[in-house]
Amino acid sequence: MSKNHKYKGWFITFEGPEGSGKSTQSQRLCDYLNKNGRDAIMTFEPGGTPIANQIRSVILSRDNVKMTPCCEMFLYAASRAQHVCEVIIPHIEKGGIVICDRFTDSSLAYQAFAREIGYETVGAVQKIATMGIGPDLTIMLDIPTEIGLERTFKKRNPNKIEKSADRMELENLEFHKKVREGYLKLAALEPERIKVIDAEEEPDAIYNKIIAIVEKKIS
Ligand code: TYD
Repeated sequence: MSKNHKYKGWFITFEGPEGSGKSTQSQRLCDYLNKNGRDAIMTFEPGGTPIANQIRSVILSRDNVKMTPCCEMFLYAASRAQHVCEVIIPHIEKGGIVICDRFTDSSLAYQAFAREIGYETVGAVQKIATMGIGPDLTIMLDIPTEIGLERTFKKRNPNKIEKSADRMELENLEFHKKVREGYLKLAALEPERIKVIDAEEEPDAIYNKIIAIVEKKIS
C-alpha cells in the first residue's frame, strides 16, 4: 500500500506509446470506479486545465517544428506544474482517485530517452514540476511501434483535441521506437509501480486485467 504522496486518495496514471489505447482504457476504468462508489476523475497531459491546455497547443502545433528538446521538456513540465496544483492534488487531498492519461513517465520516455536529454536531467525537472508527488500505480500499455502508429493514423481518436497528426506524431519511426524502449526501461526500473500490459490483446481482456490490478492496489 505504498504511496508516492502524502494525501488520502489515489493517483493512477496510464502510459504507453502512440496508439496503445490509453485514452479508451483510462476512461473505462474511471467509469468503473465511479459506478462502484468511488470518487474518480479522469484527466490528461499535456493539458487538463485552461492554462495547461494553452501550453498543450504550443507544444503540439505543427507550426512549431523548430522547438528545441529543452524547450519541449520545460513546456511539458510547465503544463504539469499547473495541472498538479489545480487538479491532481486538490482531488487526492480530499480522498478521491485521479486517473491521468500520461504523466512524468511520458517525459522520461519521450524527452529523456527519445530526445536523449537524459534520465537525470528530465527526472530533476519532474521533481520541481510535480511538487514531489508521483503516481501510486501506473498502467503501461505496451504495443509494437509500427502497430501503434498505424492505429493512430488509421482511426484517429474522436476525443482528441488535435484533428490531424500533431508535432510529436510526425516524428519518424526511429524516434517512436526509442520511446517504446524508454518505457520498457522505466518499467524494469520500477516493477512495483509500473504494470505492463500487452495492448495487442482484446480490449475487454485488457480492461479486466486493469480492473484486477487497480482493485488489488486500492482495496
Ligand atoms: P496526446 O495527444 O495526449 O497523445 P496520446 O493520445 O498518444 O496520449 O499526447 C501528446 C503527445 O505528447 C504524445 O505524443 C506524447 C507526448 N508527451 C511527451 O513527449 N512528454 C510528456 O511529458 C507528455 C505528457 C506527453
